[in-house]
Amino acid sequence: MQVFVLGGTGTIGTAIVAELVNRNHQVLALSRSKKSDELLTSAGATPFRGSLAKPDNWADVAVSYDAVIQAAATFCDDMGDVDAKAMKALAQASEARTEPTRLIYTGGCWLYGRTGDEIAMEDRPFDPLPSFSWMVTHSQMLLDAPKLRTAVVHPAMVYDMRDGGVFHRFLSAANAGQRIEIWGSEATRWPLIESSDLARVYCDLVERSDLVGYFNAVAEEGVTVGRIVSVISEAFGSPAEPIIRTEEDAVKENGAWAKGPTLDQQMSARKLQSAIDWLPQIRNFEEPMSQWIADLQI
Ligand SMILES: NC(=O)c1ccc[n+]([C@@H]2O[C@H](COP(=O)([O-])OP(=O)(O)OC[C@H]3O[C@@H](n4cnc5c(N)ncnc54)[C@H](OP(=O)(O)O)[C@@H]3O)[C@@H](O)[C@H]2O)c1
Repeated sequence: MQVFVLGGTGTIGTAIVAELVNRNHQVLALSRSKKSDELLTSAGATPFRGSLAKPDNWADVAVSYDAVIQAAATFCDDMGDVDAKAMKALAQASEARTEPTRLIYTGGCWLYGRTGDEIAMEDRPFDPLPSFSWMVTHSQMLLDAPKLRTAVVHPAMVYDMRDGGVFHRFLSAANAGQRIEIWGSEATRWPLIESSDLARVYCDLVERSDLVGYFNAVAEEGVTVGRIVSVISEAFGSPAEPIIRTEEDAVKENGAWAKGPTLDQQMSARKLQSAIDWLPQIRNFEEPMSQWIADLQI
């Protein structure tokens, strides 16, 4: 199949491109720099120069492909506005096509808010962080678009063998022999998934355009941050005692998104598992730790 990827150089997108290429799909991926051109080319994809913020450039091309994957985000104050412009352009461009366009859109576990001892399934009402609430609106707009066949993936917190992903901050501190900083509480639970396991979800959904709606993607339903930090500090031989920062301090220093890692959450992928027979290959984040420490680019 021919797949157009937005965000193909990010934590999630890099793994998606690798998996698509591995399955012999042809990948055209939006790129905004020479560095991204090179990364995409070496991964076996073809870069297409443009910006998420200027969809007039690429939306018609994207909908001419068999499927489009949206895994790009600016992570600036304009994040919601840029996504709105891009996704509206995509929905509009799809209307000129005879056949509906397959779209895989990226949501996220933070849209469920704090779940505590409950385990979020796809029918749980959203309670998004204010800085990500636009994702709920955009998901619904894309699910309602008449010429799009949309599946929305809600990834858990994504860790990655390249640079650690959501563990990056912990690994950098441990690697430098420093105490690891925890925002909020050691008891906070994070749902987890490794990036290549997540990539298989996107690729399976690309290939199964009959599946529309929301899909949680998670390998471990909820692991305490305290345990993650203790495993990492032990593996690196760095000081075991973490530094605990309050949520308020973390937000003040890093911006509104920093409330996300303080959410105590659990999430289930039961719907996905029954729909596509998907199972994560890494079901315990500790499994690849030694390989990870050897290969990590931090
Ligand atoms: N990572 C997680 O744990 C996680 C979990 C749940 C949901 N999500 C969601 O998944 C999405 C992707 O997350 P991520 O962690 O993979 O992000 P990321 O690593 O920061 O990657 C962002 C991607 O977007 C691209 N991009 C940014 N601004 C662009 C622009 N103006 N034009 C074109 N491309 C642009 C980047 O390209 P460059 O290489 O050029 O910068 C990069 O490929 C986000 O919506 C995020 O909220 C992430």
